[in-house]
Amino acid sequence: MLKRFSISLEEDLLAGFDDYIVRHGYSNRSEAVRDLIRKVLVKDEWADDSEVVGVVTMVYDHHKSQLQERITELQHDFYELITSTTHIHMDHHNCLEVTIVKGKASQVQNLAGRLIALRGVKDGSLTMSSTGGHLR
Ligand code: NI
Repeated sequence: MLKRFSISLEEDLLAGFDDYIVRHGYSNRSEAVRDLIRKVLVKDEWADDSEVVGVVTMVYDHHKSQLQERITELQHDFYELITSTTHIHMDHHNCLEVTIVKGKASQVQNLAGRLIALRGVKDGSLTMSSTGGHLR
């Protein structure tokens, strides 16, 4: 059920927000405010170290000595957090590996940090989302 509430804010702030809405393709203010609130609530869950799902993305050169082995080793060390792994051969040298993880925010961040920090990983990122009660 949708509830309504009104917000008072400075003209400049509203103008900036309306600009943001247009740039991000929102159809109205409510839609944008809902998204922002969800984002904040998800962030709050990470801060509480609750259960999250995450996607670790890595681009690396598989010719780099031992890198492939190190990645596999880490993934086995943290097997309880890992849901699945997808490996794509981008070209002769480069690989894209996407690892889907699930666990406490701090554990997920720890694993992602270790994977991305491995020598030879050219690009890496972690996207976390929440499985928790805030998202309805
Ligand atoms: Ni590959």
